[in-house]
Amino acid sequence: MATQVIEIDNYFPVKTELLPLGIEMPCDIFIQEGGELKVILKQGERFSFFLKNKLREKKITNLYIDKSNEKIFQDFLLEFKPKEYFDNILDRYQINNEFYYKIEKECLSPEIPVTFSLYFHDGKNFNIFLDASEENPKAISQDYLPEEDILISRKDLDRYKEYLEKLIKERKYESKILKETAKLILRDVYIEPTNRKNLVILCDKINQIIDYGIIEPKVLENLLIMKKFDNYNYVHSLNVMILSLSLGLKIKLDKEELRLLGIASALHDIGKIKISPLILSKLGKLTEKEFQIYKTHVIESVNIAKELDLPEKVIEGIAHHHEKLNGTGYPFKLKGEEISFFGKIIAIADAYEMLTTPRAMKYALTPYNALMILVQDRGCYDKSLLETFIKMLGRLI
Ligand SMILES: [Fe+2]
Repeated sequence: MATQVIEIDNYFPVKTELLPLGIEMPCDIFIQEGGELKVILKQGERFSFFLKNKLREKKITNLYIDKSNEKIFQDFLLEFKPKEYFDNILDRYQINNEFYYKIEKECLSPEIPVTFSLYFHDGKNFNIFLDASEENPKAISQDYLPEEDILISRKDLDRYKEYLEKLIKERKYESKILKETAKLILRDVYIEPTNRKNLVILCDKINQIIDYGIIEPKVLENLLIMKKFDNYNYVHSLNVMILSLSLGLKIKLDKEELRLLGIASALHDIGKIKISPLILSKLGKLTEKEFQIYKTHVIESVNIAKELDLPEKVIEGIAHHHEKLNGTGYPFKLKGEEISFFGKIIAIADAYEMLTTPRAMKYALTPYNALMILVQDRGCYDKSLLETFIKMLGRLI
């Protein structure tokens, strides 16, 4: 097999199962092995059962195609696998995102040079607009940032974390940096939920946010205003954590209670990592069977929390976050006082966050409309907590 040094930016990934069997390939197809790209099928060769099985044995699920052949390959898919062609368009952005991480552009400070390159996605390709490295750090002014989302290469995530820590030390844009670092920590937790080191780091960050919230009550509101479209599970969890902590601060929970509430709300949906992405990101309504599977994320979250030996209060909060006061929730159909206090708080924060975040095929509601829906469903939520929540967010509407 011919090999070449990998320049992944010049290639796009395609799932192995997308290739039609027995058909001549319209261009060269590559696999990634040992940091190199190798031609696995030359233009004109046919994809055989034998090769498919060989790839499966080697657990190779992604193939790569030179970007200059993109149009040819898309036309090929459209002809031989029309359904997969459309799925692939959706998939590609996701797979490509394995190489990039979207950062919070407002966290970039002109006074502290970045040691990593910055990219943006123009709807078709990823483009570099600041070429920086540890040897060649560069400062960037907010005025020169593109309108699009800003991304970094995933291999630079540690450098980005170091950069944020520097900003925290210099006490720059504190609420934004706190949220951005918390987001990165939650990402790590979601990737490796049973890694205790991640949990310890998460607890530290929760303490920092609580301390900061106590010193400066407006900060949590600032964090909420920053909420933007982001499809990752851990971003939803981060927002639910911030909303839950805000409510916890408003009702004057003590510091230890806040810390436990922070952990429960951050991990309430961690079990979703066990649910198929096809269900989690399905466009349109789930079938009854799919919804049954979706609902199991609560028990999966509880199992992970138990594995981490988290306190009972935290486990209850996680277990009850989809329960409703009138008994119409899941998985236990608990009623009223059977539902734990943390469960009641997280249920309100979770419902509000879901309503105000745009999701596939669904527009986000304004905070006002979201609160109106919660009020209409008030039989589902704790009356006094909901009132405090509405008063707390009232200033944002
Ligand atoms: Fe949930």
